[in-house]
Amino acid sequence: MHPGAKSVLLSLVCVSFLLNGIHAEWSEEPGSVILGCGLDKGGGKDADGRQWSPDDKFLVENDDSITSKASYQDPSIMSEIPYMSARVFSSETSYKFPVQPDKRYWLRLHFYPSFYGSFDPSDSFFSVTANGVTLLSNFSALITCEALSQAYIDREYSLAPLNSDTLTLTFKPSDKSDGAFAFVNGIQLIQMPDLFDSAVLVGNLDQNMDVKSMNLQTMFRLNVGGQYISPTQDSGLTRMWYDDTPYLFGAGVGVTNAAAKDVQINYKTMPQFIAPPSVYSTSRSMGQNEKVNMGFNLTWVFQVDPNSMYLTRLHFCDYYYSRVNEIVFDIFVNNQTADATADVIAWTGGQGVPTYKDYVTFVQDGEGDEQLWLALHPSPETKPEFFDAILNGVEIFKLNDTDLSGPNPQPSEMSIKQHEAESEFRNHRPYNKSAVIGGAAGGAAGFAFMAAICVAVYHKKKRPPGSVAHSSWLPIYLSSSSKSSTSGKSINSSNLSVMAQGLCRYFSLQEIMQATKNFEESNVIGVGGFGKVYKGVIDNGTQVAIKRSNPQSEQGVNEFQTEIEMLSKLRHKHLVSLIGFCEEDDEMCLVYDYMALGTFREHLYKGNKPLATLSWKQRLEICIGSARGLHYLHTGAKYTIIHRDVKTTNILLDEKFCAKVSDFGLSKTGPNMNNGHVSTVVKGSFGYLDPEYFRRQQLTEKSDVYSFGVVLLEALCARPALNPSLPKEQVSLAEWALLCKQRGTLEDIIDPSLKGKINTESMNKFVDAAIKCLSDHGTDRPSMNDLLWNLEFALNLQENAEGGGSTRSAPVTACEFEDVSLGENDMASHYKNLNLGSEHELSSDTGENPTAIFQQLVNPKGR
Ligand SMILES: *[C@@H]1O[C@H](CO)[C@@H](O)[C@H](O)[C@H]1NC(C)=O
Ligand SMILES: *[C@@H]1O[C@H](CO)[C@@H](O)[C@H](O)[C@H]1NC(C)=O
Ligand SMILES: *[C@@H]1O[C@H](CO)[C@@H](O)[C@H](O)[C@H]1NC(C)=O
Ligand SMILES: *[C@@H]1O[C@H](CO)[C@@H](O)[C@H](O)[C@H]1NC(C)=O
Ligand SMILES: *[C@@H]1O[C@H](CO)[C@@H](O)[C@H](O)[C@H]1NC(C)=O
Ligand SMILES: *[C@@H]1O[C@H](CO)[C@@H](O)[C@H](O)[C@H]1NC(C)=O
Ligand SMILES: *[C@@H]1O[C@H](CO)[C@@H](O)[C@H](O)[C@H]1NC(C)=O
Ligand SMILES: *[C@@H]1O[C@H](CO)[C@@H](O)[C@H](O)[C@H]1NC(C)=O
Repeated sequence: MHPGAKSVLLSLVCVSFLLNGIHAEWSEEPGSVILGCGLDKGGGKDADGRQWSPDDKFLVENDDSITSKASYQDPSIMSEIPYMSARVFSSETSYKFPVQPDKRYWLRLHFYPSFYGSFDPSDSFFSVTANGVTLLSNFSALITCEALSQAYIDREYSLAPLNSDTLTLTFKPSDKSDGAFAFVNGIQLIQMPDLFDSAVLVGNLDQNMDVKSMNLQTMFRLNVGGQYISPTQDSGLTRMWYDDTPYLFGAGVGVTNAAAKDVQINYKTMPQFIAPPSVYSTSRSMGQNEKVNMGFNLTWVFQVDPNSMYLTRLHFCDYYYSRVNEIVFDIFVNNQTADATADVIAWTGGQGVPTYKDYVTFVQDGEGDEQLWLALHPSPETKPEFFDAILNGVEIFKLNDTDLSGPNPQPSEMSIKQHEAESEFRNHRPYNKSAVIGGAAGGAAGFAFMAAICVAVYHKKKRPPGSVAHSSWLPIYLSSSSKSSTSGKSINSSNLSVMAQGLCRYFSLQEIMQATKNFEESNVIGVGGFGKVYKGVIDNGTQVAIKRSNPQSEQGVNEFQTEIEMLSKLRHKHLVSLIGFCEEDDEMCLVYDYMALGTFREHLYKGNKPLATLSWKQRLEICIGSARGLHYLHTGAKYTIIHRDVKTTNILLDEKFCAKVSDFGLSKTGPNMNNGHVSTVVKGSFGYLDPEYFRRQQLTEKSDVYSFGVVLLEALCARPALNPSLPKEQVSLAEWALLCKQRGTLEDIIDPSLKGKINTESMNKFVDAAIKCLSDHGTDRPSMNDLLWNLEFALNLQENAEGGGSTRSAPVTACEFEDVSLGENDMASHYKNLNLGSEHELSSDTGENPTAIFQQLVNPKGR
C-alpha cells in the first residue's frame, strides 16, 4: 500500500465530490437511436429517465415481425422499458439505420427471454449480423441467462467505421432447429469517439496491432478498487463500470485506495471520455509489506471465449507518489510479460494525471484456455523505492473483424435438472414457464454483457469442487455515488417522498399513532438496533409491522434512510416489503408487511432448547427462500447489495412459511466522507461475523455467505449461533460444526427431532454446502447461486426419499412475539464504543458476559 495514503478499508468509496462541476467532454450525438423494440408510439422512459423510442420506423418494409409484451416481469427487472416489450421475428428481418460512414458506433442489444405470446423462449435460437459482421450466432438468450442465473442480458459492441451510410442489423432465426425465432427488447446505436488506436501485442512486445479498424465486444469493464458507475455517471459514453472484487484471484487481494478529497484528476491532453474521474480516483495496490508483495502476484482472472483475440485496456493514475521510480512493476497478461517496467509517474509525468495502456493477447483454444489472467508484480530490476503495484481500471474487449459470436454457455448439471423439472411443469401449465425460470433462478439479473461467457461453462471443465469461479459477474456494490447528491445526514421528508414517489406510501404521524394505539407497549413485537417494532393495523384491517426509530440515535437516522432507499427499490418475494414510511416531528417510522409467523429462529429453538416445530423439508424451504432473497440482493439489483446482518432473526416468515429477508438497516454503510476518506466499522452480529471481514475489514457479498452458513447450521442443529453456557469449543456454532465435521461427528449435533426423519443424502448435501460457506477465505465460499442449487438439490433428495414429496407438515400455529426488553449493561456500551452493531441481540440472546466471545472473534483461531 502507499504508505500514508488514504487507505480505504471498505470497498465502498464515495467519489461524488470529484464529479461535481466536471462536465463530460463527449455528449451524445443527436443521431443516436435508443429503441425499445415493440414500444407503442411515443416510446417511454426507463428507470434512469432515459427516453426509448419505438423501433418500427427503422424496420425494412415487408417484415413479418410481431410485437409482444413479456408474459411475466421478473422481480429483478426494475425498469419495464426496454425489457417488457419485444419484437419477435419468425423469419430473417433487418433494421436499417442511417450512420456516418467514418465513425465508430456503440451497438447495445438487450434481451429478456420470456414468453412472448405463444413464443417459448427455449425455442429461440438466432443470429445477429451488423453489415455482415456476425455478432451472435445460434444464440439462445434463455440458455445464456439461465447459465448466469439472471433474468436478462445486455451485449455491448463497438463497431468500426462502416464505410457506408447505412447500418443493416439483421436478425435471423436459426434454420437448424424447428420453430426457431429471434427477438430483441432494446437496441442502442450511439456514435462514439475514437476510443481505440493501436495496442502492444503481448508476447511480441515490439509489435503493435492496429485496433482502429477492428470490431469489438465488451467483455468486462471494471472500476478497480472502486464501485459501480452507472451510465449516467460515465463521462458521456453511457458505459457501466463494475467493481473488480469478484475477479480477484487467490488470497492476495491487496488493498484499495481512494484519492484524498483535494486531489483533482488532471486529464491534461487525454480526453475525459476515456474513463470518468471516479475510475481514476480509486485503485487497488498490493499492500504495506514489501516482503509479502514480492512473494505474490496481484491477480485477476476473467472467463473468455477461447481461440480469440482480446484487447486488455489498463487504466492508471497515481495520486500518492509523484516521482519516477518510486514504484515500478511488471504487468503479465496470460502469464506473458506485457510490460516489465510499468511506472505510472514516468508515463504520466505527475500525480493525479491519468493514463491507459492497451495490450492485445490471443487466447488459445486448449484445455484451460478459456481464461484471461491479468497479474501485477513489483519489478525489482530497476531498484524502485517501494515494492508495490497499482491499477485503477480495466476493460477487456474481444476483437475480430468479421465474427464476434461465441458458443452458448453449457448449463451446469443442476440447471439441466432444474430444466427437466420445469419442462414437466410446463407441460401442464404451458405459459407460465418464465415465472418458473425467474423463481428458480432467484430472479437475478443484471448487465451482463460482460459475462458473455459464464459460470456454467467452467463447470464443464476442471472447476475444482467447492471452488468459486471468479464469475460472480455482477461485481457491484450498492453505490452511494449513484445518488451522489444525497450527502446530508438528516432526512428531508420532502426529498424522500419525491424519491419514493410511486414506490411507497407516506403515512402521517396521526395514522401511525392510530395504527399502533399511540405506540402502546403491548403492541411491541420486537426490538432492534434501530428501535422498537410495533404491530399495527391500517386501512381497517391490514396488519402491518411498524418500526419506530429511536429519535436520539444518529445511527437510527442513517439506517432509516438506508432502509427506505433500499426497500423502496427492491421488490422480491423473499424480501420483506416496505409499505411506507412516516417522518414527522422527529418521529421516524417504517411500515412493513406484517409477517405473521415471526422470525425463523423462534421456530427453531427457544433459549437453548430445540422446539421441533419445523420439519426438515420446511427448514429447507425456508433456507431456500432466504437464499433466493439474498441472491437477489447480491446480483439482482443494479448494485450488489450486501446485507451484512444475515441471521435467523432477520429471516421472517409469513403466514404460509414463506421466508423473507428483512432488516436492511446495515446493508449499506454510508461512507464517512468527513475526513476525505472512508473509515470503516465492523458491523454485524456475533456468531455470524465473517472472520475474513473481521480481519481484513473488506466487505464482500461472501461475508453474507458466511453468515448464511451459520443460519444453515442453526436450521440443522436448532441451537443459537453463540451459546456461552457451553464448553468453550462449543460456544460458537460455526467453529463447533467445523470441528465436528472434521471429526466426523456432525450427526451427533443435529436437532434430535430430525434424527431418523432426515434423508442422509439430503443432509450430507446440506452440510457440505453449509461447511463451504464457512471457508476461511471468501473466495473459497460458494456464491449464493451455487448455494441455491445445492439447497434445492437437498430438498429434491428429501422429497424423493419421502416419496412424491406431498407430505407437508402441519402448519405451526401463529407465533407469539416476545417483548424483548433491553438490558443496558456494561458490555453493551462497551460494544458501542467499539462500533459493533447489534449489541442488543447479543445481550438478550445470551445473558452472559460476552467478553470471551468478543475475544474469540478477535482471534479467530485455526479457522
Ligand atoms: C475471428 O473469428 C474467427 C471465427 O471465430 C476466427 O477463426 C478468427 O481467428 C478470429 N480472428 C481473430 C483475429 O481473432
Ligand atoms: C497462468 O499460470 C497459472 C499458475 O501460475 C495457471 O494456473 C494458469 O492456468 C495460467 N494461465 C494461462 C492462460 O496459461
Ligand atoms: C507472477 O506471474 C508470472 C507470470 O505468470 C509468473 O512468472 C511469476 O512466477 C508469478 N510470481 C509469483 C510470485 O507468483
Ligand atoms: C446451438 O446451441 C445449442 C445450445 O447451446 C446447441 O445444443 C446446438 O448444438 C447449437 N447448434 C448449432 C448448429 O451450433
Ligand atoms: C400464470 O401464472 C399467473 C400467476 O402467476 C396466473 O395468473 C396465470 O393464470 C397463469 N397462466 C397460465 C396459463 O397458467
Ligand atoms: C432535496 O430537496 C432539495 C430542495 O428541494 C433539493 O435541492 C435537493 O437536491 C434534494 N435532494 C435530493 C437528493 O433529491
Ligand atoms: C427540505 O426540503 C424543503 C424543500 O423541498 C426545504 O424547504 C427545507 O429547508 C429542507 N429541509 C432540510 C432540513 O434540508
Ligand atoms: C374504514 O371503515 C370505515 C367505516 O366502516 C369506512 O368509512 C372507511 O372508508 C374505511 N376506510 C378504509 C380505508 O377502508
